[in-house]
Formats: sequence, C-alpha cells, structure tokens
Amino acid sequence: MLGPMKREHQTTVGAIQDEVLAYTAGRDVVLDQALIEVDCIGSAAHVTMLSEMSIEPPLFSAEDVKSIITALGDIMVAARKGEFQITLADQDVHLAVERALTEKLGDLGKKVHTARSRNDQVAVDLRLFAKTELLDTIKDIAALGQALHTFAAKHEKVPMVGRTHMQPGMPSSVGLWACSYADALLEDVALVQTAYQLNDQSPLGAAASYGVPLPIDRHRVAELLGFEKPIHSVLHANNARGKLESIILSALSQVMLTLSRLAQDLMLFTMPEFGYFTLPAEYCTGSSIMPQKRNPDVLELVRSRATKVMTASVAIFDIVKGAPSGYNRDLQDAKEYFMDGLFTTRTSVRIMALMVEGLTVNEQALLKGFSPDVFATDRALHLVGEGMTFRDAYHHVKEHLDELESMDPQAAVDAKTHYGATAGLDLNGVASAYTALLEQTSAARQAYHQTVSSLLGQSYPLTDVKAQ
Ligand code: ARG
Repeated sequence: MLGPMKREHQTTVGAIQDEVLAYTAGRDVVLDQALIEVDCIGSAAHVTMLSEMSIEPPLFSAEDVKSIITALGDIMVAARKGEFQITLADQDVHLAVERALTEKLGDLGKKVHTARSRNDQVAVDLRLFAKTELLDTIKDIAALGQALHTFAAKHEKVPMVGRTHMQPGMPSSVGLWACSYADALLEDVALVQTAYQLNDQSPLGAAASYGVPLPIDRHRVAELLGFEKPIHSVLHANNARGKLESIILSALSQVMLTLSRLAQDLMLFTMPEFGYFTLPAEYCTGSSIMPQKRNPDVLELVRSRATKVMTASVAIFDIVKGAPSGYNRDLQDAKEYFMDGLFTTRTSVRIMALMVEGLTVNEQALLKGFSPDVFATDRALHLVGEGMTFRDAYHHVKEHLDELESMDPQAAVDAKTHYGATAGLDLNGVASAYTALLEQTSAARQAYHQTVSSLLGQSYPLTDVKAQ
C-alpha cells in the first residue's frame, strides 16, 4: 500500500507537496520550452515600462533595465541552443526565468514580477508565440497557394471531367480544379488574418485579472511589444485566453478542411483506375509486405490531422465554456492543444505544397474519362442556342442519350468563357492576391523583428538559428 506522500518541494512561490506539484505543473515543464523567448521579450517590455513609470523613487534605473535586458538576452540565446532548463520546481517558464534572473541579478531579479501576474504573463507569451506562428503559417499557405496557381496555369485548359456526386458531370479542366483550391485557401487565409488581428492585442497589465494599484502604462507596453493596442478591460484580457486560441484553431481548421479535401481528391485521381495525376514518388511510402506499393500516406494523414486541429479547437472551446470569469487553472491545459494545432497545421500546409509541386498530369488518362454522356448538358445548351426551351432540350437529350455523340473536350473547355469558368479564369488575379499576401506577411514579420530589436537593444533574432 502506498502511504500518504509527505515530501515537499521548495518553489519560488512557497512549498508545494511533490505530487501536487507534478500534477499541477503537468506538461508545462516541457511545453513552456517553446515560450522561453517570448517570455523574455514580454519581461523586457514590462521592465522598460515600469522604469518609465512616474513614481518616486523610480522602480528601476536605466542601468537596472540594461542589466535585466542583457540577462534576458542571455537566457534567450541559451534557450535557442537548448541550454536553458525549466525544472519541476520552477513549475513553468515564468518562474524559471525569474529564478535565473534572481540567480544572476539578486534583488533586481526579484523586482521584475512587480505589477504583473503569471496570468497576464502567460497570456502575453501565447499571443507573441501565436503572432509569429500565424505569420509563418500564412506565409506557408501563400506558398501552397502559389504552387496550386502554378499548377493551374501550367495545365489551365487541359480537359478533365467535372464530377458531382463523384459521377461524371460536365467537361471541366485541370486549371479549374487546381484554381478552386487556390481560391479556397485565399478565403481561409482571410479567417486566419482575422484571428491574427484579434491576437494582436496586449493583455499585459491585467495581472491576476483585476489590474494593479500602480500607474502602469498599458499602451506603452503594447507599443514596446509591437501589439496594435492593449486589450481594453483587464478582466477580458484574461477571459480571452482560451477563447482566442479556440478562434485561431477554428480558422486553421478551415485551412485543414481545404487541405483534407485536396488530399482526398488527389488520392482519388491518382488511383491507378483514374490515373489523372501521379504523385511525386519521393513523397509516397512503401509497404512492409507488398513490394510494389507506393502509398499516399501523407495525404491520408493530412485528412486525419484536419480532424486533430478541429478537435483541438473544440477541446479548448469546451475547456472555457463553463469557466467562470477571472483566471482558472483549466486554461493551462488549453496550451497543449493550441501548440499542437498550430504545429499540425503548419506542417500539413508545408507537406501539401511539396505534393502539389511534384504532381504530374497524365493528359491521355484525363481524356479517356470523356464518355459521350459528359457532353449531355453542353448538347442541351446547344439546342437552346437553336431556339428550344431549356426544359424541352433537356428532355430531348435525356430521351436520346444513346445517340449522344462525343464532342471535342478541348472545344468544350474553350467554350466556357464567362468569369470563373474553364476559359474565364482570372489566374492573374489569384497570383496577385498571393503575392500581396506574401508581401504583407513578410512586412509584418520584419516590423516585429525591428520592434523586438529596439526593445532588446540588439538585433533580433539573436542568433541565425531560425532565420526566416
Ligand atoms: N502555467 C500557468 C498557465 O498556463 C501559468 C499561470 C499560473 N497562474 C496561476 N494562478 N496558477 O496557466
């Protein structure tokens, strides 16, 4: 029988029973590794703002700020090299950084947590983390959109049977098929950008959830971190945690939905029975028993990972839906879902770009799909051109399906000239939308780097480990 565990751990915020510590820290000790850098950036801004606060005597001198920011910079560099440890006694990144600052700077380190709480600290960390993750994800989505555009432009008028209910329907083209996915991603990106804007607000100064009795400047700290503005009420600043992550993942779920359907189409159209397209061999996997196999595992996993991202969004929604206002520890468990959702989306987008870039088209196989019935609607509309009402033409063709003659697929593709159809695609418009997206995203990335560089007084990113 296990006796009651009495062992205690000394932590920065008091003694905690071992088992309670392990349970409450949960996965933070591991997950918070990804937040070390942003935690330091947040602290640099907080301390800078506090030093400018009009109280006598000032909380920090200019020299103090310099020492603290230098020490934070050292932690950031160590973190990038994998040399900064968050221990169980630390509980999380916030107390780990405070411990390291205090070890190095003594009382100065102990002052850094003035006028804030881990609640607004983790909220700002997650927002800074999400900011660059979203910008990078948007950049990757744009690269996938460009790959789809290139594919559409290269095979713009190559005939392909258009299907509804999976059954042959009407003449269509490879260009239209690929362009539809480039269009979908542009709409998905609009959702991601909206989530980005909601994310682009500073929660700092909210502290535990109710602000602090000190004349802090929340606008200043938002500006120092490159946020568009501070979140208005301090209570909402904390209540928005979880809700925001759910919104972000819900936007990303739409990206994953598009990817999953693209993956499904590719699996179908690359089956030997179709053979419309061929997947790049280097991105297919083999079988442990069947020597001939070249399986689309990547596409299958994209399909299942769309479920993962949506599920993560719903899980976070569920964590917060019954939470009373003010910080609740449940929020900590949203972190893993959030990080996993971001990672899953980004890696899925990237791998799909590789798949599309390597995709080849088999025009003969595509043409083989054009049985005469595919032209039934075109034939009916031809009769309309000769003066018949559409319904009469429809019935005429329906009653004489056996007599339908095959038409020229290419002519059918060329004949649909109206906006958005096989011969009326605005591929230049699609291309410019993606170029604009890339420009916007890289400008936002650069602006963030510049903001952090001025905050730290040295060029950021601090090493070239992750040059973007
Ligand atoms: N690791 C915690 C989280 O992710 C930090 C905030 C802890 N706050 C608290 N009041 N216990 O939520």
